[in-house]
Amino acid sequence: MSRILVTGGAGFIGANFVHQTLRTLPQHELTVLDALTYAGSRANLNGVLDSIRFVEGSIVDEATVERLVRESDVVVHFAAESHNDNSLEDPSPFIETNLVGTFRILQAVRKHEKRLHHVSTDEVYGDLELGDPEKFSESTPYNPSSPYSASKAGSDMLVRAWVRSYGIHATISNCSNNYGAYQHVEKFIPRQITNVLCGEPPKLYGEGLNVRDWIHVDDHNRAVHAILERGRSGETYLIGADGERNNRQVIEMILEALGKDPGAYEKVRDRAGHDLRYAIDYTKLRQELGWRPEYTEFAEGLRQTVDWYATHEDWWRPQKAATEARYRRKGQ
Ligand code: NAD
Ligand code: TYD
Repeated sequence: MSRILVTGGAGFIGANFVHQTLRTLPQHELTVLDALTYAGSRANLNGVLDSIRFVEGSIVDEATVERLVRESDVVVHFAAESHNDNSLEDPSPFIETNLVGTFRILQAVRKHEKRLHHVSTDEVYGDLELGDPEKFSESTPYNPSSPYSASKAGSDMLVRAWVRSYGIHATISNCSNNYGAYQHVEKFIPRQITNVLCGEPPKLYGEGLNVRDWIHVDDHNRAVHAILERGRSGETYLIGADGERNNRQVIEMILEALGKDPGAYEKVRDRAGHDLRYAIDYTKLRQELGWRPEYTEFAEGLRQTVDWYATHEDWWRPQKAATEARYRRKGQ
């Protein structure tokens, strides 16, 4: 049994981590620390709030972090500002949460000699050309493009420095784009599903040839557990599931899954500095830790996700109008 502190456990991936852990590893005791920004909500933890300790607070708050880390055995650090488009409009909270917040976690983990797993993104590596046989691996040089990916790259570097200089017991994972239940409607897949459910066309940035390497959130979280159980201290593991699709293909699949004309989408203004392609080589995770994705058919995982949004309108409806108003102001 471990006492696990889950930062950002009321957000998309963190909440799925909490649900999965209670379902499959009920021996663990979970504490969630979450600031409940626009992206986090208690509703993401419906049905399990009685089985965990929930603390509303910021990872930037030194005293809160210090106390909760002291009371835990392991910290799984998901909390972050997570959306590229928001980081282009206002980078400040990304610097504060992703850099200063991670620094606070590191200092507390160092002081109390606790185990840390830092959850990060493949976007720290920049982007790849279309059709390039190369994929990202653990040895790819960092080359982030946006304020979001630069702040995550910086947080990874802080973790590496604390491992080397202070000998903390930490692992890092860099995962590709996640999809699944409880993802905020600002993100690509939920935005398009809920647009169609609202009778609006999906919105494709530019020509939609940008490629993302999609992984189901449950596969990501199973990989995090594999790293917690068997990962080597100080190591980085890339997480992916061979899910490369371009944005146009994904929109066409969503329209088809909802019984619409696959061409019924709208092209909107492209993102500044838009990364072209992400692709993950997860050989190390497979060979060292024996992890494999369970969602090997993206179309099937996507259909399940479409069904989840179609049957959880009460969950996404309150966020939808404000999210779309923000995009409309930017011509997106
Ligand atoms: P999310 O935006 O859905 O959730 C983030 C959570 O962190 C929210 O609950 C929010 O309230 C909380 N939070 C934000 N600032 C905080 C602060 N200062 N203190 C405490 N809590 C705070 O994000 P997500 O998609 O679930 O991403 C989780 C992690 O996974 C992030 O570190 C992200 O960089 C990483 N990641 C995401 C993806 C993806 O596809 N979504 C892929 C790879 C890695
Ligand atoms: P997003 O979900 O924001 O993730 P990331 O920027 O981390 O990859 O976007 C995924 C892809 O979808 C990205 O190439 C931008 C594109 N996109 C659209 O085409 N339309 C949209 O409405 C959004 C939100 C994103």
